[in-house]
Amino acid sequence: MPGDQPADLSQTAIDAVVADALGAFAAASTSAELKEARLAHVGERSPLALANRAIGTLPGPERKDAGQRLGAARAAVNAALAEREAGIGAAELTQRLAAERIDVTLPVELAPEGAPHPITALMDLMGDVFVAMGWEIAEGPEAEGEWLNFDALNIGPDHPARGTTDTLFVAPLENHIVLRTHTSPVQIRSMLDRPLPIYVVCPGKVYRADEFDATHVPVFHQIEGLVVDKGISLAHLKGTLDHLARSMFGDGIETRMRPHYFPFTEPSAEVDLKCFVCRGESVGNPDAPCRTCKSQGWIEWGGCGVVNPRVLAACGIDTDTYSGFAFGMGIERTLMFRNNAADMRDMVEGDVRFSRSLKGMAR
Ligand code: PHE
Repeated sequence: MPGDQPADLSQTAIDAVVADALGAFAAASTSAELKEARLAHVGERSPLALANRAIGTLPGPERKDAGQRLGAARAAVNAALAEREAGIGAAELTQRLAAERIDVTLPVELAPEGAPHPITALMDLMGDVFVAMGWEIAEGPEAEGEWLNFDALNIGPDHPARGTTDTLFVAPLENHIVLRTHTSPVQIRSMLDRPLPIYVVCPGKVYRADEFDATHVPVFHQIEGLVVDKGISLAHLKGTLDHLARSMFGDGIETRMRPHYFPFTEPSAEVDLKCFVCRGESVGNPDAPCRTCKSQGWIEWGGCGVVNPRVLAACGIDTDTYSGFAFGMGIERTLMFRNNAADMRDMVEGDVRFSRSLKGMAR
């Protein structure tokens, strides 16, 4: 109804205006649409507002009647508007809540978590076996005097391992410094520095001029044990190795010694580990071959022996009173056996996924 026309205040006209407004509110489905309908039907220039203004121009008795009817009509329209506003508001809130919903149970990207390197973890674990028996951990430098790495260990000047094809020298050669080829110089340092008796294990990094492939790395790790005390025999050595093997691989996994030669021990032996896969049951049993030990029942693990008295003497120890034993094995090799780490290259490449895959292994 155009604003400049006299308003029609008949009940029919008012009913039509109310019906119009209610229809428009019902048709609005968003708050924006409802706002438009509100302006059109209850705004200042809406038919209802104009009718309201027109009331003033009516003569008294008609004015009261029209006022009451119009008041009722406006109340009805305002109520319908409020109801629709509430309805649309609630629907829009529900929609927003659904759209902005966050699933708090979804996994979140946490800060990446690291893990100790399996070599470090296994070295600590093996060290702990000895600390639990009251032994001490001994450490020494990786760049080592040639005398400590070789001569003091009864490895003579012409021994082939002392050549530059096997050993990495720190230049210049005249300084006689090598990257230690085993942790045995720590035995010498321990005997020179520590009061007797000595019960130490020496875990650490060693270097050899080796190829880099699946079973060799030029930098690897060993753990070596040394005992010097009164009345020490091979039996003590065997018991110690068996205890270590059981601690690492479980009950029933013991060791055996195979005669060998090391300049620093006499007698010397290689240490074999009972195959922890077939437990020896593949031996002479073609129906159940074992790939791990090639059906031998045993796997080579390290070296050991009774400390050569010449080594004790080089460290000023009275060989009439004292004797000792020593053993050493590779950590990488032990990790390969114990945790199924088939490729040594994984151990040096520094991919954190390798560390994470063995996280918790040292339990
Ligand atoms: N040092 C020897 C090696 O690196 C291992 C070993 C240690 C052997 C102690 C006997 C006694 O091969």
